[in-house]
Amino acid sequence: MRIIIGISGASGVIMGYELLKVLKNFDNVETHLVITEGAAENFRCETNLTLAEVKALSDVVHDNRNMAAAISSGSFVTDGMIILPCSMKTVAGIAAGFAENLLLRAADVCLKENRRVVIVPREMPLSRIHLRNIKEIADYGCVVIPPMLTFYNGADTVEKQIQHIIGKILRQFGLEYKAFVPWQIQEEKI
Ligand SMILES: Cc1cc2nc3c(=O)[nH]c(=O)nc-3n(C[C@H](O)[C@H](O)[C@H](O)COP(=O)(O)O)c2cc1C
Repeated sequence: MRIIIGISGASGVIMGYELLKVLKNFDNVETHLVITEGAAENFRCETNLTLAEVKALSDVVHDNRNMAAAISSGSFVTDGMIILPCSMKTVAGIAAGFAENLLLRAADVCLKENRRVVIVPREMPLSRIHLRNIKEIADYGCVVIPPMLTFYNGADTVEKQIQHIIGKILRQFGLEYKAFVPWQIQEEKI
């Protein structure tokens, strides 16, 4: 399996890092990473990670300015793309087909080739423009997984909340993540 991982400049780039860590443990998954300039800035602002540490987790790393990269072409077959987190600028770029960097081009290519694109949009609050663009990309076939808090599974730390989001994303690719705790129907108490 081959999955493109895009990390853009929304808050929560640590989630992209955690996803790469998880995927590293899947022997059957080859990851192709592209990090935007905005994401690089957010790694600086929000984490103590160096970009080298992030990139080391991916099988292949592409420069966001390199429009001649393999993932820029539909002939390079992938199983799809995950953008985690996805900024509102990148959501807008996908909605408009405005492929002005490699991350946007790769998403555009996945959509034109009918491949799975999972978007994790992050902004708060969401304006009507954001909502319109998110609806647009959903209409075009993207799976939208907002990084929402989940409480039904006992996820009482940020780490567990991130694990849950990653589990939800990986299920879209038929991948089971052991740390994912799904909803379990409670037996009625007598
Ligand atoms: C610390 C920080 C946090 C940000 N958080 C968000 C966010 O949560 N959502 C968002 O859409 N943009 C956010 N931005 C703005 C984006 O980084 C900016 O719009 C950037 O141009 C996005 O470009 P990209 O999608 O190519 O990374 C943030 C910027 C910084 C510096």
